[in-house]
Amino acid sequence: MSDMEALKNRCLQCSGCRLAATRTNVVFGVGPVPSPIVFVGEGPGQQEDLQGEPFVGAAGKLLDDMLSIIDLGRHNCYIANIVKCRPPQNRDPMQDEQDACIGYLNEQLAILQPKIIVCLGRIAAMRLIKEDFRITREHGQWFSKNGVEYTAIYHPSALLRDVSKRPETFSDLMALREKARALGCI
Ligand code: URA
Repeated sequence: MSDMEALKNRCLQCSGCRLAATRTNVVFGVGPVPSPIVFVGEGPGQQEDLQGEPFVGAAGKLLDDMLSIIDLGRHNCYIANIVKCRPPQNRDPMQDEQDACIGYLNEQLAILQPKIIVCLGRIAAMRLIKEDFRITREHGQWFSKNGVEYTAIYHPSALLRDVSKRPETFSDLMALREKARALGCI
């Protein structure tokens, strides 16, 4: 069994926080192992909880379209979340829930060895880039940490709610494609 499979098996049995009690499925993450680019959302929604896969609902459909613009898809990048179980009513994951779950993501990243990590939205950016990350001001900027390039773009759900954010996101995606090419990720 691979390290990733062993990690997934452990994660599927997790009862480390209150979200375990209300989940249908643990949403571990999908994609190739290793993976040069990893996208990280905040946590599963209803469809993800039902299907056990990240970004399969309406926001996921938009994410797939965004990825295809820059020659990416589920075959050549990894997709995961900060928390692996659905927060009820799609509320933001609480700090203690994130704390209980983040070890799984850290282990995933150690196995995946990405060159680029793209945070989808504020929650992932605050957790992975810096605590005081401001998505409106700092989306599209690049942050180097331990040899990995981090950036954040608007969450696809935010782009569904507010189409006026889409042109900025298109520019961020173009810059992401440049960076991915420069680092030999695509
Ligand atoms: N929103 C997220 O942040 N993650 C998912 O997997 C689905 C919706």
